[in-house]
Amino acid sequence: MDKKRILITGAAGFIGSHVARLFINKYPEYEIYNLDKLTYAGNLENLKDIDKNSNYKFILGDIVDSELVNNLFEEYKFDGVIHLAAESHVDRSIENPMDFIMTNIVGTVNLLNAAREIWKGSHENKRFYHVSTDEVYGSLDLEGFFYEDTPYNPHSPYSASKASSDHLVRAYHDTYGMPVIISNCSNNYGPNQFPEKLIPLFINNIRNNKPLPVYGKGENIRDWLFVKDHAAAIDVIYHGGKIGDTYNIGGHNEWTNIDLIKVICKVMDKKLGRANGSSEELITFVTDRAGHDLRYAIDSQKLQNELGWKPSLQFEEGIILTVDWYINNQKWLDNVTSGNYQKYYNKMYENR
Ligand code: NAD
Ligand code: TYD
Repeated sequence: MDKKRILITGAAGFIGSHVARLFINKYPEYEIYNLDKLTYAGNLENLKDIDKNSNYKFILGDIVDSELVNNLFEEYKFDGVIHLAAESHVDRSIENPMDFIMTNIVGTVNLLNAAREIWKGSHENKRFYHVSTDEVYGSLDLEGFFYEDTPYNPHSPYSASKASSDHLVRAYHDTYGMPVIISNCSNNYGPNQFPEKLIPLFINNIRNNKPLPVYGKGENIRDWLFVKDHAAAIDVIYHGGKIGDTYNIGGHNEWTNIDLIKVICKVMDKKLGRANGSSEELITFVTDRAGHDLRYAIDSQKLQNELGWKPSLQFEEGIILTVDWYINNQKWLDNVTSGNYQKYYNKMYENR
């Protein structure tokens, strides 16, 4: 299989950095290009262990800039795209939807157009892999799962923008025969996640003895997958997935927020040598998120049956690895929470 020059968008972010590291180490014969705008969520520190590798190149740029994107495709003639660049946080999308529309929708179409232009004539060994989320399917009651053919029903500006980009990617397959693949994954956790998402935010707040803001009653349910298992799934889907198909990725690992938070509190008490129960005292119930989806749960049988992927880690191991990483990388946390983070935090949480 060819697919040697791969553009990974958003590889300075959380999941993208794990995908880039996996590809750079596992496929030394590939050339990996990372196009990233370095928003608040993008951090070159995430890749500092591999950024000197000869098969890796970082390109600073915005996928919304169509001229730049076209020029890059023209210059590097990418064989494959793994598209992860996105605005990714639901709460930010509620505050400011327009950034999500521009990056997640317009940016995706810019990449599709540029790939279509240089791949016209032959799609052999070409692949446009769009990384998406289970949030496009909407919200479940306490029963049932999301399947690949579950109708889309997004509720937040974030999930609606991702749903829109998924539809456009499929439209480019159906209309122009573009060699696309989509995967929809459940909530990820692990090292290098920006501390605005639940797990790293709460680890950081416990570390700093700050309140733990639980939305509503903490009864919402998420299905958590360790980020390296998501990266491994992306690898098998990129190489073995069927063109035009969709794959759901998830770990059958559902937790109510409040139960999950109590696990984090316990692990943190132990790691920080604090009295058992002291972190739980920081739990504070706050105003619920607008349009808060009750439950996400993925059925990933198709991926398991067709491509043999399955999660490698139990949640109990993954959360310990995760807490260890943040405790051992407090400088990383301090760096990403300096600057504008405080402004963001005050705006998001002061009136809850
Ligand atoms: P993230 O916010 O940590 O990283 C996003 C990256 O994209 C950052 O490096 C940022 O600088 C870059 N970026 C943002 N706008 C850009 C632009 N206009 N041009 C170029 N680069 C830009 O996100 P993440 O959590 O790593 O998510 C990556 C992808 O996976 C997203 O598409 C997201 O929808 C999807 N996803 C995330 C999860 C999750 O739990 N985090 C679950 C399923 C799917
Ligand atoms: P989050 O990590 O933002 O992921 P998503 O909304 O994409 O699933 O949130 C996970 C869950 O945790 C979600 O139900 C909202 C809840 N949550 C809180 O209770 N408090 C918080 O401060 C945050 C950020 C999230």
